Amino acid sequence: MELIDGKKISAEIKQELANEVCLLKEAGQKIPHLVAVLVGSDPASETYVASKVKSCQEVGFKSTEMRYSDDITEEQVLEIVKKLNEDDDVDGYIVQLPLPKHISEQKILLAIDPNKDVDGFHPYNVGKMVTGLPTYLPATPAGIVELLRRYKIQTQGKHCVVIGRSNIVGTPMSVLMSRKDEYADCTVTICHSRTQNIKEYTLKADILIVALGIPHFVTADMVREGAVVVDVGIHRVPSDKTKSGFRLVGDVDFETVAPKCSYITPVPGGVGPMTIVSLLQNTLKASKGLV
Ligand code: GUN
Repeated sequence: MELIDGKKISAEIKQELANEVCLLKEAGQKIPHLVAVLVGSDPASETYVASKVKSCQEVGFKSTEMRYSDDITEEQVLEIVKKLNEDDDVDGYIVQLPLPKHISEQKILLAIDPNKDVDGFHPYNVGKMVTGLPTYLPATPAGIVELLRRYKIQTQGKHCVVIGRSNIVGTPMSVLMSRKDEYADCTVTICHSRTQNIKEYTLKADILIVALGIPHFVTADMVREGAVVVDVGIHRVPSDKTKSGFRLVGDVDFETVAPKCSYITPVPGGVGPMTIVSLLQNTLKASKGLV
């Protein structure tokens, strides 16, 4: 079993991005600028946005965090989005999800200028992804493909089972794994919360990508010997073994599943750090006008 070290790979990519920033500076060109909009005080969202801003600083990007309380109206958020669309200094921006219930995520995503949509969530960019046109790829699925590429894990002709069908991970992941590409070209099955006898499918997976959002959902009896397992989940669970009183676990029961795998991503330090570097890569693309 080999661990897929997302922390190490993401550090390598950050170094590559930092080198690019140096070249841009030397050439007197614009430094990429990412804006993150955070509405409310969801603790997970706060952590994600803080990591995104910190990572921008690490590679030398400009970053701005815009925070609003959760009593902001939908109209006010739409106004903020309009201003960001018009601001030439902003190359790309994200509106952290989930949004408070009184704000329609769909309306907000539709209002984002697709050229600045570095999350790749606007339906126009989703359509470009599905039809194989160059665009911003959603950060988590793109980060997972990058891990497969950097570990040279053979995927062509393999059976990839994706558990989860969210717009952020499961659905775009299934699209990326089925497209014609060196680190894709899989036969893909999507399972979700309504799938019956899910084990029948997971046991047939050469590559199992789990993004369901249930701690330790995948157990050893569900995984084939030699499978590649990618765990997108991240959950805080109480623990009496740590100082903080909690530890992070994924959607996969790592302890029992890992010995059966050819490769597996740990939690933390697997997929998570890759999500952020994909966002940075998209921001660089945006600043270079490559999409
Ligand atoms: N919420 C969870 N993941 C993401 C993400 O990648 N982008 C945004 N905007 N919100 C999220």
